This record gives sequence, structure tokens and C-alpha cells, in this order.
Amino acid sequence: MFKIQMPHLNKRLITLAFGEISVHHCGDAMIKDKGICSSANEFFLPPINAALQLEILMTAIMGERHCVLITGGAGYIGSHLALLLQKQGYRVVIVDDLSTGNTWAAPESSSLIVTDILDSPALVATMREYQVKTVIHLAAKSCVAESIIKPDDYFETNVKGTQSVVGACAKAGVRQLLFSSTAAVYGNGTHGLVKEDAPLKPISPYGQSKVEAEKVVANSCARYGIRYVTFRFFNVIGAHPEGIVGQYSPDSEHLLQKCLDSARKNSALNIFGYDYDTADGTPERDFIHVQDLASLHLHAMRHLDYGGESLLLNAGYGNCYSALTFIKAFQKLTNTVFPVGYVLRRDGDPASLIADISMLGEKLDWIPEYASIEQMIGSSWAWENSLVRRALK
Ligand SMILES: NC(=O)c1ccc[n+]([C@@H]2O[C@H](COP(=O)([O-])OP(=O)(O)OC[C@H]3O[C@@H](n4cnc5c(N)ncnc54)[C@H](O)[C@@H]3O)[C@@H](O)[C@H]2O)c1
Repeated sequence: MFKIQMPHLNKRLITLAFGEISVHHCGDAMIKDKGICSSANEFFLPPINAALQLEILMTAIMGERHCVLITGGAGYIGSHLALLLQKQGYRVVIVDDLSTGNTWAAPESSSLIVTDILDSPALVATMREYQVKTVIHLAAKSCVAESIIKPDDYFETNVKGTQSVVGACAKAGVRQLLFSSTAAVYGNGTHGLVKEDAPLKPISPYGQSKVEAEKVVANSCARYGIRYVTFRFFNVIGAHPEGIVGQYSPDSEHLLQKCLDSARKNSALNIFGYDYDTADGTPERDFIHVQDLASLHLHAMRHLDYGGESLLLNAGYGNCYSALTFIKAFQKLTNTVFPVGYVLRRDGDPASLIADISMLGEKLDWIPEYASIEQMIGSSWAWENSLVRRALK
């Protein structure tokens, strides 16, 4: 038995520990057959697992944080975000159809609901059951090349799926939403630093589907009184600093993934395009560490918690690496060698995309912690060589 002072002990935690029981007055519950008895705020609990003890202790100290639903939380970005939110004391429920996500990536103490975001009634039921306060909508199809072959699938998941998520929020009374869009909405409309009000000229069905999804978020949220933050993610890389999760998608088109593959197999890596209007002729991108992107979401959620206005923001660092510079940095930092070649430009790839982050700096009090190329490549390399990642091969 252990004894604890817990003014915040409530029915949910008692139910979590002991199963469904009826508690009318938490402050002076006497449930001797279940092992609980109390006087005022003192409770005596039988031995329970360490994770639950920790949750009870955190709740006793901090009070219970609200529940966040993450669509796509079993994917690359979602799994990092779920871990960070849990560490901060939030309850996390994940909705994911596991089309590119994985059950192992969803933190054990989160609740994983395996369903399609197009199933709006299931979303409403989940939001109500878990008393969700904020929805973070990440679930999407996000492969540029695939979107050119199967554009309809991209509109189905990314546009109709977003309609379904926002509609479910409205029905379930959720009034805060974070939405993940992409720098691909800018397409060839810009060169170099790009502001949020730049013209949107996506050159792939993926980018176009996100333009439409952004409109759904802005229009529907205004109609239903939902405050939102839409982020346009630039190129997300990196892995959890303790190697708990990381990128795992064998079909990934990301430059970093291609570097990792080439390093492992000692195979050639071909850069798409050598004649762009950039310093070395190869395309330039703004990379952001996944852990910083996760903490950015935490800041955005707090902004909404405190009644902040709806926002549309770039999510990057505001600097860039060309494909060639990035590959050279990768080889140097990981002490690997593989041949590098050049092939023709790929449809849908703009020359240069760098986030103008002046609005981000103005609106959110966020300081990145993992912005160096050493941390971005180093954490991915550590994850790639970790026991967890190796077990997945
Ligand atoms: N990774 C990047 O560099 C990047 C850049 C810009 C934008 N984004 C956006 O960030 C979000 C997350 O991307 P990610 O890199 O983590 O991709 P990911 O593929 O690892 O994660 C997406 C998750 O959504 C789930 N999902 C897909 N369709 C679903 C559906 N119909 N119903 C339920 N779940 C579904 C997948 O199973 C997966 O777990 C996406 O919206 C993507 O467009 C990512």
C-alpha cells in the first residue's frame, strides 16, 4: 500500500486504477473492497503499476491536463508530438488507419483508435468519449510523386478527410484545431524566402489538395466558431533525441531517407535537377527538426488555450541547404561515402523554398532547440542505427 495526498484524485483515475466503480464523493470515498479508503484528501492505494502511479502523482501535483486527439498520431511527426504532449502531462488519443503509420510508434500510454478520418461518426464518438479539447489534424497522404499518379486519392483523404475532421469537431463541441499543411502549397509561385501571403501555385496534386484543405479549415472553423492554427511545414527531418521513435517509411522520398539508404547499401544517390536557379544548381530546402516542430505545436496549443486568435504560419527555420550541400554534410557527419549523381528534374519540385518566419516569431513565443545540421542529421543517424529501428528491418 502507498499513501498519497491528492486533492485532484478524480473518478477517471480511480476507474483507470480499479475498473468501473461508482464514486459519488471523491473527497471521502470509502471503497474498502477495492482497496481504497480515505479521510479528507488522504488516499491509501494498493500496489499498482509504475506508469499509473506516476500519472496519479503528476495529476496530484499539477491537476489534470486536457485531452488532445491527434489524427495520424502513429506516423512520423504524430508519434513525436504524442510523446512530447504526454511528457507535458496531456492525455493523448490517436486516430490513425495505419496506412503509413505503425502501432509501435504510438506511445503505449496513449489510446489508439484504428479508423479512417473519413468515418466522421467514429471521430465524433471518440472526441466525446475522451472529452477532447484540442484536435491536431496530421493524417494525410503526403507523397508528391504518388499524388501525380493517384490525384483522386489525395483529394479524398486530404480534402474530404479534413472536412470530416472539422465537421466532427463541430458536432462534438471541440473548439480548438491545429492543422498541418505544407510548403508545397507555394509551388513555383515564389523563389527563396516565402511569406504566408505569397501566391499559392502548387505544382502537384498533393500541394493542391493541401490548398483546398486549408480553405476547408479556414471557412468551416469560422462557421463553427473553432479557433485554429494552420502550419505550413517545410522539410521535416530528425528523430527523437533519445531514439524512442523516428522516421520509418521504406517508400519515403525525403532526401535524408535517400542518404540513409545509400549509406547503408553503398548505392548511388541521384539528385533530381542540376540546372535550377540556385547557387550550385541543385534545389534548396528549409529543414526543420521534428522535435522542434512538435514543440511548436505545444506553443500553438497554449496560444489557443489562452484565447489566442486563429493563425496561418510557416513552420521552418528560415534558412536552407541545397541538396548537394546537405548530402556532403551527411557524408561528413556520418563518416560515410557513396556515389552522388544527377538526373533530370522531377515534376512537382520547386527550385527553392525557404520559410519567412517573421510572422511566426511575432505570434508565438517559440525557441527552436534542435536547429543545427548536426542535430538534424545526427539524431536521424542515431535512430537509423538504434536497436529499435534495426528490429524493424
Ligand atoms: N514529413 C514532412 O516533411 C512533411 C512536410 C510537410 C507537411 N507534412 C504533413 O504532416 C502530416 C504528417 O506527415 P508525416 O510525415 O508524419 O507522414 P506519415 O505518413 O508518417 O503520417 C501520416 C499518418 O496519417 C495516417 N493516415 C493517412 N491517411 C489516413 C486516413 N485516411 N485516416 C486515418 N489516418 C490516416 C497514416 O497511417 C500515418 O500514420 C501530413 O499532413 C503531411 O502532409 C509533412
